[in-house]
Amino acid sequence: MTHINETARQILRKNDRGGYTVPTDGLYPYQWNWDSVFAAWGFATFDNDRAWTEVETLFSGQWDDGMVPHIIFHQSDPGYFPGPDVWGTNKTPQTSGISQPPVAATLVRKIYEMDPETGRTRLAALYPRMVAWHRWWHEVRCAPGPACITHPWESGRDNCPDWDVGMANVDGSNVGPYQRRDTGHVDASMRPGKEDYDRYIAILQFGKACGWNHAEIMANGPFLMADPGITFILLRAHRDLIALGQELGEDVSEITGWADALEAAVPSIWNPDLGAYDARDIRTGTWANNLSSAAYLFLYAGIENPQMDAQMQRTWDAVTYGIPSSDPEATHFDPRRYWRGPMWPVVNSLIAVGLKDSSRDADEARLRRETATLIKKSGFYEYFDPVDGTPCGGSNFTWTAAIWLTWAGRD
Ligand code: GLC
Repeated sequence: MTHINETARQILRKNDRGGYTVPTDGLYPYQWNWDSVFAAWGFATFDNDRAWTEVETLFSGQWDDGMVPHIIFHQSDPGYFPGPDVWGTNKTPQTSGISQPPVAATLVRKIYEMDPETGRTRLAALYPRMVAWHRWWHEVRCAPGPACITHPWESGRDNCPDWDVGMANVDGSNVGPYQRRDTGHVDASMRPGKEDYDRYIAILQFGKACGWNHAEIMANGPFLMADPGITFILLRAHRDLIALGQELGEDVSEITGWADALEAAVPSIWNPDLGAYDARDIRTGTWANNLSSAAYLFLYAGIENPQMDAQMQRTWDAVTYGIPSSDPEATHFDPRRYWRGPMWPVVNSLIAVGLKDSSRDADEARLRRETATLIKKSGFYEYFDPVDGTPCGGSNFTWTAAIWLTWAGRD
């Protein structure tokens, strides 16, 4: 019988398309931003050189303004919608027009520390590119204070209830006909509904119509929300980028300024009625009123907050396996529908980094055990029902295999 660690490595190898790794065969046939960085972290456990290549290929899609897009379309695939023509960004390589959670600096730091000798020259070449991406986040997406997203897909947590209030203001009635592909790969009951999809396309069409002018999208786009997930991920990433810069002997004062500014904006995403960090519609000021797993990245960002500790224990204890993407005690909780309740091993791995770094060792071990139980029982699925453990979404998933190798499968 093949050992489970070997199975995880084989998934990374099989999803390798030569310099980049697809999230899973079929459903996601291109290079996705944060998936790819997790893949790199996984590769680093057995092939450090390949790990660097993964991140370098991702940054080959970086725009002149510094943005690293959420998808790089290295080769065409008719099985995916919306493809490069729909986005119409006119870049080489072809890309989408939005970004995704900036986990790169944090995981690149881990990859570097696993083998500094191999990594030194690769890091030196990548560093200015990471700085340019962080500058883009600071100047463009963090202009309102916290990190904001202009499309739910930018959050990486596509149809989380966090985005419902913002999506309600998007008119999806004029998008014209299109053919979805996702529901041909996995059960439609797990995927976003048609009305949501129309709105996703409407936001995309706005970006395309203005030539992906980010100033225009920030000022007048149909959707703009503060994202606790990216706020915490970016804050952490700024600090890791500072550490990497210092390692290289660089002047890091500019990045320190970005980190300080973002930290000062964290109170602006505290919803006092919810008693938690929360997403907020920037145009209307409306809170999402949803406790999502992204809020539990406060520890990952180096922030202590006793109320959040209590919320995390409550939502965690209400299910059996890991920390769910959305509050299990809320009426909209849906344990198998995309980001509306399921548990994502990959988000749990980041929460675990925060638990470990804040010396909550027993909690970190519990989260690791619960995640490992699901994977050992059912395989490397995209996500799981946190109540009964049913595996959901795509199978042989790259980032689930990667976090097994780096974290969940660690004895
Ligand atoms: C879905 C997820 C997103 C991920 C992508 C590829 O869109 O919501 O976070 O990057 O799939 O796995």
